[in-house]
Amino acid sequence: MAKVVVGKASEIGPGQMAHVTAGGKEVLVANIGGVFYAAGNTCNHAGAELHEGTLNGKELTCPWHGAKWDVTTGEMTWFPQKLKPIGSYKVSVENGTVYVEV
Ligand code: FES
Repeated sequence: MAKVVVGKASEIGPGQMAHVTAGGKEVLVANIGGVFYAAGNTCNHAGAELHEGTLNGKELTCPWHGAKWDVTTGEMTWFPQKLKPIGSYKVSVENGTVYVEV
């Protein structure tokens, strides 16, 4: 388990997303009402980068075919077929810097 810097908390405002590649994993970090969550950044349908999608509350919509994911759990919430979870990661904020554990 490695702790990786995502960026400054002040640069990822509420409703915004950031992404980082670490340990061979693509991770997305979302600020939902001032609380940070991290999930996988690759859609399990056809591989879109989810940080290019839209975030509405905790619901993340894939930019390619519209699958919806709960960014707080990494679980799919809507799609015509069942997709595997994108996964979730532990996030922390220390001295204004956002870290994710991958
Ligand atoms: S790649 Fe995300 S819904 Fe198709």
